[in-house]
Amino acid sequence: MDKILEVNNLTKIYKGINKDLIVLDDINFSIKAGEIVSIVGPSGSGKTTLLGLCAGLDAPSDGTVMLTGEGISAMSENQKAEVRNRNVGFIFQNFQLLPTLTAIENVMIPLELQGKSKGARDIARDLLSRVGLGDRLTHYPSQLSGGEQQRVSLARAFSNSPKVLFADEPTGNLDEETGEMVEGLLFELNKEKGTTLIIVTHDLELAEKTQRVIQLKGGRIISDQLN
Ligand SMILES: Nc1ncnc2c1ncn2[C@@H]1O[C@H](COP(=O)(O)OP(=O)(O)O)[C@@H](O)[C@H]1O
Ligand SMILES: [Mg+2]
Repeated sequence: MDKILEVNNLTKIYKGINKDLIVLDDINFSIKAGEIVSIVGPSGSGKTTLLGLCAGLDAPSDGTVMLTGEGISAMSENQKAEVRNRNVGFIFQNFQLLPTLTAIENVMIPLELQGKSKGARDIARDLLSRVGLGDRLTHYPSQLSGGEQQRVSLARAFSNSPKVLFADEPTGNLDEETGEMVEGLLFELNKEKGTTLIIVTHDLELAEKTQRVIQLKGGRIISDQLN
């Protein structure tokens, strides 16, 4: 199978006044198309930073990221945005919905960024129905519960049919039932469309259901094992 993500010698350092903070220290791994991988590790171990670098949302201090065959670490912001719009879905730890847009408008954003405005509303409506929010289309984020916002964020991440979906603690702040729904939808997407899933999680039960678990500690990979 093709490698869809390849990370080489990836390092992230935040410059401090007295001391530099090494958040990721020489990370190496690759992920095959269609794989379901979880990334686990204690709080502060660098999981969110790693996901952001892999998705081209942030730039490394050293090392390279190849995403869908393209070297994103050397690209301009515009080029990276273009690769993301085409290939990547992202579910953020804190949802990051646009507060001035309704649920359906938030889900339409990735399609509009790709110039696919035609039919975008229908696709967004279908996706929101699928996550159980068919009756919340015109609600603003502030009018939705945390679990509902997370489901809008999931629908948004699916809407451009990404090749790779990065999910940062997608079930972290959800009740058990909503968490299971989100989890089920992620696995369904992988099955239906072959979407590669890279999931940061604290939930060891969820990690056990993925094909492979990468464990981070203090900015280093301490294990990388198949389930
Ligand atoms: N913009 C930043 N500037 C300085 N330090 C940061 C910044 N972002 C994250 N960090 C630090 O990097 C470490 C890893 O953060 P993060 O990737 O969010 O960890 P995790 O997601 O595993 O909890 C933390 O110690 C955090 O304080
Ligand atoms: Mg985090």
